Amino acid sequence: MTTVGVIGAGLMGKDVAITCAGHGYDVILCDRDPDVLASVPRDMRRLLRQYRLTSPAVAGWSADEVLGRVRPSKNYEEFADADWIVENIVEDYAAKEQVYLGLREVCGDDARIAVNTSCVSITKIAGLMPRPDRVVGMHFMNPVPLIEAVEVIRGHHTSDDTVREAEVFTTSLGKQPIVVQDTPGFVSNRLSHLFMNEAAFLVHEGVAEPGQIDALFRLGYGHKMGPLETADLIGLDTVVNSLAVLYDDMQDPKFRCCPLLKRMVAAGRLGRKSGQGFYSYANRAAIGSPEALPSGGSA
Ligand SMILES: NC(=O)c1ccc[n+]([C@@H]2O[C@H](COP(=O)([O-])OP(=O)(O)OC[C@H]3O[C@@H](n4cnc5c(N)ncnc54)[C@H](O)[C@@H]3O)[C@@H](O)[C@H]2O)c1
Repeated sequence: MTTVGVIGAGLMGKDVAITCAGHGYDVILCDRDPDVLASVPRDMRRLLRQYRLTSPAVAGWSADEVLGRVRPSKNYEEFADADWIVENIVEDYAAKEQVYLGLREVCGDDARIAVNTSCVSITKIAGLMPRPDRVVGMHFMNPVPLIEAVEVIRGHHTSDDTVREAEVFTTSLGKQPIVVQDTPGFVSNRLSHLFMNEAAFLVHEGVAEPGQIDALFRLGYGHKMGPLETADLIGLDTVVNSLAVLYDDMQDPKFRCCPLLKRMVAAGRLGRKSGQGFYSYANRAAIGSPEALPSGGSA
């Protein structure tokens, strides 16, 4: 097995591409936005510089070799021969649906498809494909090259063979797969989004500053990152979209999105990726602001 097709070259897609290429796979990296594709080589070099400083596992990866294995592409016609396809586009079911309807036209029946989503139902996505038994959830965590766990999600139709192959593939990427059943948010995000949302409510109500909340989690509970640092790392737009999926699917008010999160997204304060979220990443001046690339995981 040599070729992986990666759809979406945002935060996660670039990281998944780096991880696959770092482990010797050829990668076709597809995004619909030409500006995103144009920035892929520069972004990947920057990310690799950070990861090499943080992780001994990545320290030996040469940027030229990793980039040499990643071919950016505007469409996924070339995915016909890919051994695995990993989809990482925005957390929006309608957008994902269009991608899978397109993939139906190019992929053979045997294509193995991994859905990297925070919350969207794997069963619902698999239902769009002619071979739903070949579709599995593969929830990589951010930053992908540094985080050992991958949540592998068995959809209603996912076959035992596909789950086994997903375990083999993720293990070949140096990861530890943890197989769970399909439910909105799976295990990690059903829990973590409650923490992040409630932390945002505490800021919204003026109970505490972001730095105080995160310090309690880091110093009090021994977490590597607090909930608001994690939200900034994930991207507040993705957190808001994920809470919407959880709220709609579960019809449970406990997933009602904090208005402050929505307002921050409307104002373009998306977290690290826009330079400003609960913390500023331009001057790192906020209380408890993260000084270094986190080694703790997020979803
Ligand atoms: N951000 C995280 O920490 C994190 C962690 C785990 C899983 N996820 C999930 O991974 C997925 C991607 O998240 P992200 O943070 O990388 O989002 P992002 O917004 O950074 O990137 C999404 C990319 O998808 C591209 N795109 C949108 N529609 C497309 C289409 N039809 N065809 C090709 N490309 C398209 C966009 O141009 C963009 O570059 C989401 O489902 C998210 O829930 C995110």
